[in-house]
Amino acid sequence: MNKTFVKNIGLLCTPTGSRVHAGAEQGQITKIENACALIEDGKITYCGPQAEAPAGAEQGAQIVDAQGRLVTPGLIDAHTHLVFGGWRQHEIPLKLAGAGYLDILRMGGGILSTVKHTREETEDQLYAKSLGFVHEMLAMGVTACEMKSGYGLNTETELKQLRVIRRLAESSPMDVASTFLGAHAVPEEYKDDADGYVDQMIRETLPAVAEQKLAQYCDVFCETGVFDVEQSRRVLEAGKALGLKPRIHADEIDAIGGAQLAGQVGAVSAEHLIAADEDGMAALAKGGVIADLLPATSFYLDKTFAPVRRMVELGIPVVIASDFNPGSCPSLNLPFAMNLGLLRYKLTPEEVLTAVTINAACSIGMEDRLGSLETGKQGDLVIWDAPDWEMLLYRFGSNLCHTVIKAGQPLAR
Ligand code: NIG
Ligand code: FE
Repeated sequence: MNKTFVKNIGLLCTPTGSRVHAGAEQGQITKIENACALIEDGKITYCGPQAEAPAGAEQGAQIVDAQGRLVTPGLIDAHTHLVFGGWRQHEIPLKLAGAGYLDILRMGGGILSTVKHTREETEDQLYAKSLGFVHEMLAMGVTACEMKSGYGLNTETELKQLRVIRRLAESSPMDVASTFLGAHAVPEEYKDDADGYVDQMIRETLPAVAEQKLAQYCDVFCETGVFDVEQSRRVLEAGKALGLKPRIHADEIDAIGGAQLAGQVGAVSAEHLIAADEDGMAALAKGGVIADLLPATSFYLDKTFAPVRRMVELGIPVVIASDFNPGSCPSLNLPFAMNLGLLRYKLTPEEVLTAVTINAACSIGMEDRLGSLETGKQGDLVIWDAPDWEMLLYRFGSNLCHTVIKAGQPLAR
């Protein structure tokens, strides 16, 4: 048996349970001083006060001494576009000159320029680059994440991206959920014919993705000038019919009805929601849709921030994720997004912790295994160079991750 004993935890902070925490529950965190955790064969068998640890807990175990530090569950980044070719730093002058995100896309830049590079790169090249990102994330305390395709926009390259995601899941310590985002933009080949592209995707690409079991989720960029509500509905319903659960990029720039659609199709999550209005939020609350919010994107696009306090008030479960991608958020730093969750969304530190642990786990279908530290869950935890969780959110810009333990194994740094 593989046994790890994490002792002398100064403070252990975790949500509890295996379901979303909404409203007042978003801020409910269990805090245990002088704690320890016992992990056997990857699973937690005890987590609580050290004084009450089971007899013989240390026997035959690999001992990790937290030396009084803070411990939380591994962080979960529920929204990334991590596999892509090239970068887009050349868009900076356009941005500074006042061009908006959708202006750049209309000029043939933006997502379409990343599509060009992603089509050109080999599977091995994409894999090597992405694996580097995965290690960067692990070093910041992120132990599970979601990854989307969407820079292929043809069957061949979408499948290539999804195969890279599968390889990353199989070959790295990261737990990975995979999302098919073929409807991320209208490719040059279908310029001015979004319907034609959607038809082709539903006919050819989606069935191939489902048949090869390359994704658990189907996503769509429902936005002005990209896919309208009806096109988005067609994509998500077609995905659902093939067993892919719907999630949606909604109300990122304009509120065109994406949040309402999320409620109607029973989406697991609606993501971005910067421009969400009362109607949209009511639909999310009614449909039990999780709000995956991406504050570092608001920051990088110089936009307003999603109306998160109102969402919590309405009982919508909130997640904070990075949105890591080369265009609207070239940062994979989830702790930075969490800082913005505190400072810009005005979430409390406890609400932020829930947003990147149990709620994030629910948003990517891993809530039975991940998202909290309690008996029966996977032993994914982070030892932070901090005495408490507030310190972590307060010292923005520093990486306070001390040790990552993944399924009971301390990872080398
Ligand atoms: O979530 N909005 C659509 N997709 C990404 C941006 C992708 C890109 O610009 O490359 C987002 O912001
Ligand atoms: Fe995104």
